[in-house]
Amino acid sequence: MKLYYQIKGEPTAGLTIIPYFESDKEIKYSGIPLSAKLFSGKKDTSYLLEKDKAFLLFVGLGKDPDYKTIKTAFRRVSAKQDAFFSDRANIVFSDNFSDERIEAAISGLVLGSYVLGHYKNDKKIHPLSKHDFSLTVFSERTVQPIVEKGIRIAAAQLEVFHLVDLPRNRITPEYLSDWAKKAGKKFGFTVDVLGLKESEDAGLHAFLSVSQGSENKPRFIIMDYNPPGAKDHIGLVGKAVTFDTGGLNIKVAGMIHMKCDMAGGAAVLGAMQLIADQSLPCRVTAVVPACENVIDGKSFVPSDVIQSYSGKSIEVTDTDAEGRLILADGLAYLIKNYKPQTVIDVATLTGSAVSTFGYECGALFTNNEQLSKKIQKAGFDIGERLWPLPLWDAYKTDIESELADVKNYSGKLVAGAISAAKFLEYFTENHPSWAHLDMAGVSFVDDEFAKTKHATAFGVHLLTNFIENL
Ligand code: BES
Ligand code: ZN
Ligand code: ZN
Repeated sequence: MKLYYQIKGEPTAGLTIIPYFESDKEIKYSGIPLSAKLFSGKKDTSYLLEKDKAFLLFVGLGKDPDYKTIKTAFRRVSAKQDAFFSDRANIVFSDNFSDERIEAAISGLVLGSYVLGHYKNDKKIHPLSKHDFSLTVFSERTVQPIVEKGIRIAAAQLEVFHLVDLPRNRITPEYLSDWAKKAGKKFGFTVDVLGLKESEDAGLHAFLSVSQGSENKPRFIIMDYNPPGAKDHIGLVGKAVTFDTGGLNIKVAGMIHMKCDMAGGAAVLGAMQLIADQSLPCRVTAVVPACENVIDGKSFVPSDVIQSYSGKSIEVTDTDAEGRLILADGLAYLIKNYKPQTVIDVATLTGSAVSTFGYECGALFTNNEQLSKKIQKAGFDIGERLWPLPLWDAYKTDIESELADVKNYSGKLVAGAISAAKFLEYFTENHPSWAHLDMAGVSFVDDEFAKTKHATAFGVHLLTNFIENL
């Protein structure tokens, strides 16, 4: 896509997108007022007209839209009106468009170019994805840096759409580690990958237990972005179970969606791209344990007692509670070897987070009040909401084992997201600033953009925005 900017004048050809707020006093274009009966800027409305062989698309954004409303409205324009895009489009931003609003609009527009039919013989290529497509942005001030930022955000999110939406026979642990190596080279962070042998040597026993039934060998991905002069040091861990059958505690419902069980890991990969792409002045070390939870004679079984990187023993009471096992090793490894000031893990961890918050927000667990506020704000401002749940010690009894130091599942059908978080907390070595985001409900959803559940890239922008605003 080629980008052009114009401070003065009006577009004369192609599709011109003209967003309006309901609060805008008079809606006019090219000096001609538009009848309020046809279009008044209401949220989720649009009005298309043809003028001198060009198309004008008025897009209603409502009274005081938040970031997500604007992003979704623009995503809708490019996803649903692609037929009008041909080889060029224009956007006209009025003075009412703050930097954040422009960023939301541009990233939404680019995201709308995503086409889910990856394996169709007649796969469509959206005009916006073509090299010679030109987008001209009209505004009365310089907006180039903000437009470019919107594009970078969408580029990282598009990568994550691919990683999560492609099936498990394509997105193996090895695929994820290859992706990380390529991104590291391109954007400037180091990538070390521990394969099976190296993971055994390192003592990542809990991680390897989950993986042991799979032909697709595990990869423990370690990334480090360390710009000169960085003051802060953040650690990230993302669950990347490339497929979760449940193991021998086999899933009886919803298994088909479990290619999404690497969405936490993918969010961390996408965030690393975006953080490095924006040259943020903060060191970020990220660990993505990637493996498959499938069934074989070699699989771990319920009642096994396994070891872990931290040296703590774990009674496996349910093989479907596998995410917390690989995160336990991810967290312990990151904290012991890199000692970041703050550690955040992201994971599609429990069905309980889905039943609690539905598809609207992720569950947030943290032992640090200041971190809680900052991370909620980082998400809220860009339309990726989190809401806190408690980590009280009263819930600790749920994971107490008679046989081992800890067990991975309470066996009770209550407070599943909380007991999972308590399990993770046990492996954070009393780190004073740790947060766990359970994003099982928000990573892979049904919405207007496809007929099947698909990726949202939840977490990519949230984590980056958190680091940007430290
Ligand atoms: N991957 C699932 C959680 C999940 C559920 C992700 C729905 C995305 C959508 C996780 O590994 C799991 O199976 N959790 C179980 C744990 C239980 C057996 C202790 C759950 O929450 O049901
Ligand atoms: Zn599971
Ligand atoms: Zn899982």
